[in-house]
Amino acid sequence: MPEIISKIDLAPTIKGFEIKAPLVAKKAKPGQFVIVRIDEKGERIPLTLNDWFPEKGTIRIVALEAGLTTKRLNSMKEGDRIANLIGPLGKPAEIGRYGTVVCVGGGVGIACIYPEVRAFKLAGNEVISIIGARTKELLIFEKEIKEFSDEVYITTDDGSYGEKGFVSDVLKRVIEDGRRIDLVVAVGPIPMMRAVAEVTRPYKIKTIVSLNPIMVDGTGMCGSCRIEVGGKTKFVCVDGPEFDAHLVDFDLLTLRNRRYLQEERLALERYGGEK
Ligand code: NAD
Ligand code: FES
Repeated sequence: MPEIISKIDLAPTIKGFEIKAPLVAKKAKPGQFVIVRIDEKGERIPLTLNDWFPEKGTIRIVALEAGLTTKRLNSMKEGDRIANLIGPLGKPAEIGRYGTVVCVGGGVGIACIYPEVRAFKLAGNEVISIIGARTKELLIFEKEIKEFSDEVYITTDDGSYGEKGFVSDVLKRVIEDGRRIDLVVAVGPIPMMRAVAEVTRPYKIKTIVSLNPIMVDGTGMCGSCRIEVGGKTKFVCVDGPEFDAHLVDFDLLTLRNRRYLQEERLALERYGGEK
């Protein structure tokens, strides 16, 4: 059972965990994820890798409290053990030398875009990062993103830090300023990734999004993570998680991600009652 080596308090509802997982740490690549189950009866949740340290045999994942499982995960402590963890899963991001790459991270998606910001920079690209959160205290990994970016733009929805607005507003402005952009990569909530896709579509800028649907087995067998890309059925766990944003059916993705909302609400109520 993998042990939690350390826990980082990133924001009131966002925690980072460094977990002992030497085989995953050895093979991990930017864009890949793990599936975590915190106890024998628990659901399996996919979490994009935030970092990995092969020499220490550890990986780092970041969880935002969204449902019962992430709430329980975030209450775990250093020294606790999770039931199991599989990975690295999914196809690695296509890191190459494109020219100018814009990396867009929204909310907890900033934790997922960080390894790509670093990899694109180390591959010789000019990297422009646009990161945003609802409010100042939810903005994570600013220092780390700055370390590997040529330019960084920060937004908050309420204007408490950086510019007031959405990350997609800044992206639009950067494009309209006439900057040559060769690739845009975006990770965050679905409405954000959809907005980014609509901003870049008229300019025909290659745009990649990292999808995070409900997953069960992570091997392409159960069908839970089924989506449509360019009219074709894809399974995010094996065909993704990264896809061409201009071809993703975001309506279907949104609908399928809502299918257990009622069960999730009941489970949270029950958990609240048990505590
Ligand atoms: P959030 O709702 O706080 O939004 C974060 C930022 O995204 C906002 O500050 C804004 O800049 C941008 N944004 C949000 N809605 C937008 C819109 N309609 N148009 C343009 N920009 C918009 O994000 P959060 O609560 O941290 O994220 C929660 C969701 O992100 C979860 O549902 C989770 O499933 C998803 N997520 C996705 C991935 C992934 O791999 N794609 C990884 C982690 C989390
Ligand atoms: Fe089962 Fe992808 S999680 S097919």
